[in-house]
Amino acid sequence: MDKFKIIGKSRIAGEVVISGSKNAALPLLAAMLLPSDETVLHNVPTLKDTDTLIKLIAGMGVAIKKEGNTVIADARHVANYYAPYELVRTMRASILVLGALLGRFGEAEVSLPGGCSIGSRPVDQHLKAFEAMGATILVENGYVKAKAPAGGRLMGCDFAFDMVTVGGTENVIMAASLARGTTRLENCACEPEVVDLANMLVAMGAKIDGIGTPTMIIEGVESLHGCEYSVIADRIETGSYLAGALMSEGDVLTTNTSAELLHPVLKKFEAMGATITTGDDWIRAVMKGRPKAVDIRTQVHPGFPTDMQAQLMAVCCLADGTSTIIENIFENRFMHVPELNRMGANIRIDGHTAIVTGVESFMPAPVMATDLRASMSLVMAAACADGESIIDRIYHIDRGYDNVESKLKSLGVNIERIKG
Ligand code: UD1
Repeated sequence: MDKFKIIGKSRIAGEVVISGSKNAALPLLAAMLLPSDETVLHNVPTLKDTDTLIKLIAGMGVAIKKEGNTVIADARHVANYYAPYELVRTMRASILVLGALLGRFGEAEVSLPGGCSIGSRPVDQHLKAFEAMGATILVENGYVKAKAPAGGRLMGCDFAFDMVTVGGTENVIMAASLARGTTRLENCACEPEVVDLANMLVAMGAKIDGIGTPTMIIEGVESLHGCEYSVIADRIETGSYLAGALMSEGDVLTTNTSAELLHPVLKKFEAMGATITTGDDWIRAVMKGRPKAVDIRTQVHPGFPTDMQAQLMAVCCLADGTSTIIENIFENRFMHVPELNRMGANIRIDGHTAIVTGVESFMPAPVMATDLRASMSLVMAAACADGESIIDRIYHIDRGYDNVESKLKSLGVNIERIKG
């Protein structure tokens, strides 16, 4: 297993070009199964997770290739509707092919994704919605076997999600785009990645109203056609690098991104004392002095995103005062806390709340990455610690941060990959 060796203390400063969003690219890649001709997708980040989804779709018979950051897929000939455990277990988002397969072909067999380190993460809402659309769902031997009613097409229906689910909303809007009749969905996720998928479906000929709101109305069409589309910028990657500036009296300019996607995060950065300036496609954070303590609660969009919780916590660790962080989305998303404490932080957990008493600086230490976003909080903490830290299990970071070493190096971080 690869590790990072990071030697601090660095002032995190410079310019970094932001890649396409991982969480938007994954459903968009799954949606490439929907049309019966060629789709071209630009700004796809080069990541373990996007590679896995491409492999998954290729295994179904789609002619798919990636040239630089562009993926070209021809889904004219799909040979099977099967997503094997070997691929799904490495990435939960593989479940997104279920909606596309069921919508277009009326059947699918997809391995049930297991829990993961941040929580049990069931997919009951996805399955409930497909059942409401007339599908027969059988969960057997770790696989979801789904079949549309006679005639092979799902039926439009009225459905309200019991909770806001990003993946659930994405899966169901793909299926509903090709269903017979109209689907009215309540309590939909409004995250920018859901909006990006809905916009691409519209570019493919889908009829969707209420994009970006909790109620979406989808009038099913007979077929979808290919299109050319570009993935939105990664708001979490953007926020992660900007957070580095706040931790190190730094100055980070992120380009090829959008402040609109990051509103709740930028507001917190300002409350912590950073000067934030923005343009059409850039955001700059400049920090002077120690960050101020803040209170954060993760919420569905447009609230503070759970995927930025660990990185914000790393900033709070160095703040002047005590911060309170409440995690409302996932039940077990504080695994980075013991690791940050090993680096000298002072964090106490009480249920879903972390109470962070700021310290003057981090100490270098050997630590273990526990999940994708948590890894970045440890990398930034190590960059701000005076000495050498080793971060183990960085396969997590490779799943979600494009070109991470060279981007960090361009920000002045002394980082080296030790091959395992
Ligand atoms: C997506 C993102 C992830 C982000 C999360 C919340 C991708 C690939 N991943 O994950 O980075 O942290 O949104 O913004 O886009 N739930 C159920 N039943 C369901 C579905 C969800 O109980 O059927 C629960 C989950 O366990 C979780 C909460 O609802 O506690 C939100 O999950 P969801 O929004 O579905 O997250 P993902 O789509 O898996």
